[in-house]
Amino acid sequence: MLPHSLLIFFLPALVFAQFRQQLTIYQVLSVNGASSSRSWALPQSEGALSVSVALCSSISPVPRFFLTNSSNSNNLDDPGPSFGVDVFEMSLQFGQGNWTGSFPNGGVLAVDSNGASGISLEVAVSDRGPIHRSLNDLPFFGDTSSNQALIFSPVFDTFDLASPEFPNYKLPAANLSQPSPPSNPPNISLVISATSDGLENEPRTGCFLSSQRSTGATSNETLWAKDDLGWRKQWLSEGLTPSTNYTAFVVQDRTKISGPIYFATKSAAFNCPLVHSLPYCPGVAYSVPLPAPPNGDTTYTATNLPNKVTNTVISYMANFTTVLTTFACGRDWYSPLVGCDDCQREYRKWLCSISFTRCAEPSPENPDAFTSMPAAPTETGLAASIVTGAGGAQKVLSALIAVQTQDTARNENLPAFDSPYLQLQPCLEQCNQVDRACPPFVGFKCPTNNFNAAASYGVGYIDSADGDKAKGLTGVAQDKYGNVWCQMI
Ligand SMILES: *[C@@H]1O[C@H](CO)[C@@H](O)[C@H](O)[C@H]1NC(C)=O
Ligand SMILES: *[C@@H]1O[C@H](CO)[C@@H](O)[C@H](O)[C@H]1NC(C)=O
Ligand SMILES: *[C@@H]1O[C@H](CO)[C@@H](O)[C@H](O)[C@H]1NC(C)=O
Ligand SMILES: *[C@@H]1O[C@H](CO)[C@@H](O)[C@H](O)[C@H]1NC(C)=O
Ligand SMILES: *[C@@H]1O[C@H](CO)[C@@H](O)[C@H](O)[C@H]1NC(C)=O
Ligand SMILES: *[C@@H]1O[C@H](CO)[C@@H](O)[C@H](O)[C@H]1NC(C)=O
Ligand SMILES: *[C@@H]1O[C@H](CO)[C@@H](O)[C@H](O)[C@H]1NC(C)=O
Repeated sequence: MLPHSLLIFFLPALVFAQFRQQLTIYQVLSVNGASSSRSWALPQSEGALSVSVALCSSISPVPRFFLTNSSNSNNLDDPGPSFGVDVFEMSLQFGQGNWTGSFPNGGVLAVDSNGASGISLEVAVSDRGPIHRSLNDLPFFGDTSSNQALIFSPVFDTFDLASPEFPNYKLPAANLSQPSPPSNPPNISLVISATSDGLENEPRTGCFLSSQRSTGATSNETLWAKDDLGWRKQWLSEGLTPSTNYTAFVVQDRTKISGPIYFATKSAAFNCPLVHSLPYCPGVAYSVPLPAPPNGDTTYTATNLPNKVTNTVISYMANFTTVLTTFACGRDWYSPLVGCDDCQREYRKWLCSISFTRCAEPSPENPDAFTSMPAAPTETGLAASIVTGAGGAQKVLSALIAVQTQDTARNENLPAFDSPYLQLQPCLEQCNQVDRACPPFVGFKCPTNNFNAAASYGVGYIDSADGDKAKGLTGVAQDKYGNVWCQMI
């Protein structure tokens, strides 16, 4: 409590100075429904600070943000459109803005309402990059059925992949299990919305997206390491509408966003169930030609897949590992770049990809077209993947082949599936990666590009027919618009 005399002395000064709320580092300040301009004092700092803002509601006209790093003195006017020395406008991109620089004397951040009222926003300061930010990595689209979607967050944490060393060169078990989960995972949520609702045109900020109701119902939410890149969150969303385009965002800790990605649900007639959460095939997260799951389950996981399917995959994996370890792994080297662990990992991906045939429908970009006939053994495959559309524009088609009920299944251990379906071929690169990572003596051979590869693989999508990396028709197995060209785990 200040002495009475001091209080009287201070009061007149407050009338003239703008007494601003001071922002502190890492604090996220929310302002709800402000109807006029506001300003905040920014802390003084030796190193660089990042100031960030996020709009939490859709608003028009869009308010403008100005900051100065000259001083945080209460006597300083709010920085504004009549730029002075060390005054900067922070431009917004999809409702989010940031500015990084030095604040040797602190600074002032001001929002100019620009005529808008009811402004809800967040402001924050950090010395580790902007708190409000768009992550570079996108969510990963697993697959859809007619009314479900499997979506993964970007990787949020890695795990220790200690390379085995001679003489105790131990490879992961054929019946692989997930690494031990991270102790303190961030708060990650998924927002799905029908693309026709236009969510992509609203603020792409954590506070706005977190306030939106996600379409569908998340029936399972789990941490999953689908490959050795690290931990992701996996969502199974149900109750979606068939043949509909959806937009998805992922929000991490309410301030970081990833997306949008787009995907389409399959048509109502599509009847291949989704298979996911298999520890021994962690990359499998797509629809497979299997009968409807037992006991009213809506998807297949490790707990309800037929034992014959599971045991065969694990047995192949065990036998391959036995053969591989006849090599003096870790003592002798068959390559300066890769070792037995890389070989086993790539073989597992290939084996899982081949064992779990993938069902699909044509990509959203070309809903009516697919390569209807398996390519002749002598065809290169590239010819079959392109059609010339209206106006001569070339369109790329997914590596789909029609499978009839009487055809022999690619994996004879999958139970019979009693309706025709379209099978998405694995990308040839799925095979080539095993070839590159494994020692020659295991005898793993992929078909060659210009002879018979297209009969069983999607050829020329990722790498070019000449083998140039990522120089193929699409350069990728799938894109953020929900197109899946060939299947790659
Ligand atoms: C304010 O930031 C600008 C740009 O980073 C910098 O050039 C200027 O020196 C800074 N002003 C002060 C007072 O540090
Ligand atoms: C910071 O803002 C710039 C535009 O001013 C934008 O390009 C950049 O992506 C933003 N940084 C982050 C991490 O969001
Ligand atoms: C694989 O491991 C899981 C969990 O450890 C176990 O429940 C299952 O029986 C194992 N499967 C086989 C075929 O060994
Ligand atoms: C995680 O985020 C959601 C949505 O932003 C929020 O409702 C929830 O309370 C948060 N949970 C924790 C533990 O912070
Ligand atoms: C979600 O799925 C995983 C993998 O199948 C399972 O272990 C977990 O128990 C499920 N969680 C819920 C809440 O059903
Ligand atoms: C793995 O090897 C064992 C022993 O040689 C054999 O009985 C089994 O059939 C093999 N597994 C597969 C899937 O081929
Ligand atoms: C979904 O999006 C694709 C392109 O992104 C478009 O060609 C197609 O017509 C859309 N489908 C529906 C049902 O809106």
